[in-house]
Amino acid sequence: MQQIGIAIAGFGTVGQGVYKHLLQNRALLQQRLGIRFAVHGIAVRNLRRKRLVKVPRALLTRDWKSLVEDPRVSIVVELFGGCNEARRLILAALRKGKSVVTANKALLAEHGEEIFEVTARYRAKIYFEASVAGGVPIIKALREGLIVNRFQMIYGILNGTCNYILSKMSRDGTSFAKALAAAQRDGYAEANPALDIDGIDAGHKVAILASLSNGFLMPFSKVHIEGIRSITPLDIRFARLLGYEIKLLGIIRAENGIEARVHPVLIPRSHILAAVDGVYNAIVVRGDVVGDAMFYGRGAGADATASAVIADISEAGLDRLYSTEMRPLLGPRGRGAAKIKSIDDVVSRYYLRLSVVDRPGVLAGIASVLARAHIGISSVIQPEGHEGKVVPLILMIHDAKYRDMRRALQQIVKLPTIRGRPMLVRVESFDVAPFDGGQDLRPGGDVS
Ligand SMILES: NC(=O)c1ccc[n+]([C@@H]2O[C@H](COP(=O)([O-])OP(=O)(O)OC[C@H]3O[C@@H](n4cnc5c(N)ncnc54)[C@H](OP(=O)(O)O)[C@@H]3O)[C@@H](O)[C@H]2O)c1
Repeated sequence: MQQIGIAIAGFGTVGQGVYKHLLQNRALLQQRLGIRFAVHGIAVRNLRRKRLVKVPRALLTRDWKSLVEDPRVSIVVELFGGCNEARRLILAALRKGKSVVTANKALLAEHGEEIFEVTARYRAKIYFEASVAGGVPIIKALREGLIVNRFQMIYGILNGTCNYILSKMSRDGTSFAKALAAAQRDGYAEANPALDIDGIDAGHKVAILASLSNGFLMPFSKVHIEGIRSITPLDIRFARLLGYEIKLLGIIRAENGIEARVHPVLIPRSHILAAVDGVYNAIVVRGDVVGDAMFYGRGAGADATASAVIADISEAGLDRLYSTEMRPLLGPRGRGAAKIKSIDDVVSRYYLRLSVVDRPGVLAGIASVLARAHIGISSVIQPEGHEGKVVPLILMIHDAKYRDMRRALQQIVKLPTIRGRPMLVRVESFDVAPFDGGQDLRPGGDVS
């Protein structure tokens, strides 16, 4: 039995889950891998904090540097979170030639260039399965299981907090504020929920997935991000009336450039993602060979995330034992900013809710602005109101570039009958593209 030394940096939600399951399933891991993992230390900030998982006091330290320096430690597991100390720790470990396992999406999305550069320079290795969709092994799927595919589209529910809030609003008809309070009460949202509800956490994951699937580093600043704060129960009600659910989706599409975006989306209620409720994550990958493949599971939590982190620890252990050279794997190499499509050039359909004064000719005024911009209306809902009162007006808009839609909206809000802020949400049906996998296979089986 081979022994490999590891250090865990961070003993919060994920760190405790990792330690607990490394111990609990130690025999299974030994049987499957032929490796015994020995935890030589755990770095924390506060040595006195009460922990849910029991750990020998001697393992805890406030000095993470001593763990990185420890010659017995081959694998450093970074579970601090944040971009400051975690960045220093990871860079120090990589420079020492240690393998690094991390769940830190913010760090990879915002400092990926530096981290991957140091990893390559020191011929070290970094593993980050838990950084996207918690326990769902989407990174390994892209890097290994789907290696032969060009990724035409990757889209999905990447933030459990937002999905919990939107599911609750849809199910119970509650306001955003009440659904957020419930998420905080049930432990599904942080006291400061901005990272989640403003779409930033999902944006970090989109940056990582876009980088992996397209082979160049997607700068986080190029991911278009909109959150869910402005979604109202009214929008959810109208969306349902029209046959849709509203979900916060991360979308990466490769078609005349790479689109990387996070925003609320109306998806048909018949779409498989519309049925993904609560804190679950789900990702659909469309490859040119495999077609559509879907990955579904718990996107966060101590146990699910530990499952992904321990998969990385296992892979790192096997790599250290059985390969001496860097194993080339699908991964980001260099920059590709020129290939990134601006959100202004992204074409989609739209749901537009306006607050209008109920008087004859309102619709004609809006329609003429849209017609001048060559934007078509596919349907209209105008609930009956009373002359002179403000009522909602819902328009479903045909495919249009965001630039054109945005400019038309600037004109529309200036019309004298429009009140308040308009609500614009993209509509996606993700129709299955014609499948042409295998077209290169000529008789005789020559695919060269
Ligand atoms: N929570 C999830 O479900 C989840 C899912 C997927 C990915 N992730 C990622 O996993 C990482 C960890 O998340 P978490 O929820 O486990 O965080 P957490 O509960 O806040 O735990 C962070 C741990 O790191 C320690 N720590 C932080 N900064 C430190 C420093 N400078 N020196 C020493 N110790 C330090 C803390 O020590 P003290 O305990 O002493 O304060 C704590 O034990 C993050 O990158 C997060 O994005 C989390």
